[in-house]
Amino acid sequence: MSSLKGKNAIITGGGRGLGKAVALLLAQEGVNIGITGRNEDHLKNTVAELEKSGVKAAYSVFNVADKSEVDNGIKELVSTLGGVDILVNNAGIGWFGKLEDMPAADWEQVMQTNLFGVYYTAMAVYPYMKQNGSGDVINVASTAGLKGGANMSAYAASKAAVISLSQSMMAEWRKNNIRVFTLTPSTIATDMSIDGGLTDGNPDSVLQPEDFAEWVRDILKMKSRALIANGSIFSTNP
Ligand SMILES: NC(=O)c1ccc[n+]([C@@H]2O[C@H](COP(=O)([O-])OP(=O)(O)OC[C@H]3O[C@@H](n4cnc5c(N)ncnc54)[C@H](OP(=O)(O)O)[C@@H]3O)[C@@H](O)[C@H]2O)c1
Repeated sequence: MSSLKGKNAIITGGGRGLGKAVALLLAQEGVNIGITGRNEDHLKNTVAELEKSGVKAAYSVFNVADKSEVDNGIKELVSTLGGVDILVNNAGIGWFGKLEDMPAADWEQVMQTNLFGVYYTAMAVYPYMKQNGSGDVINVASTAGLKGGANMSAYAASKAAVISLSQSMMAEWRKNNIRVFTLTPSTIATDMSIDGGLTDGNPDSVLQPEDFAEWVRDILKMKSRALIANGSIFSTNP
């Protein structure tokens, strides 16, 4: 496996949940970290935790659903870190409800955040990776994107679109030695899944954010010739 020490990673939604767990674990590997989100207190506190690993850590506050905010925020983080080698496209919202109950504005907001957020952020990072001739982009979709279900039309549709976008990105960008990973995790104990009533989060049986982080770390550490193009992770017996 390859060392990640000295690399620079940007993690969207890095102030809590899965993004924060990935940030903390990659920092332990010696990766400099830039995290993003909308809640500045969460980001500040996470940066303080990251700095304990002795790496460079920074944050940028922006809404991933807004292209110009994404462009400015990514530019600022790349400049602070001194480059970008890894992008974890993680920010997302889990708004659930029956088709007939969910207002169109909410449906659109889920698509704008989960799909366009991934697209805007990847496109903002791509020029740097293209210039470097290497890079890793992890797009966090969901098993919900593999098959729709009741009460999750917007979320499932957004994640299905992320899967397709990510697969197209992989096919194009691998020619620049950029690895694009499409991850489809099942339920993991975070605010999103617990507040959404998807799990009780019992750590004895339900996946925890650190399990997801270990998976991300391990696929990033594979030699640059190896690409885990698609993958799912499930709780064994929740
Ligand atoms: N947990 C699960 O069971 C599960 C399963 C499969 C896939 N996923 C996916 O994993 C990713 C992380 O989810 P999570 O469980 O960690 O959820 P979470 O605890 O609710 O965290 C969501 C993160 O996304 C950020 N975010 C949301 N909307 C944003 C926006 N418009 N602009 C910028 N940042 C935004 C939040 O930052 P702020 O609060 O600072 O805005 C937060 O850091 C999501 O894409 C989710 O769909 C989760």
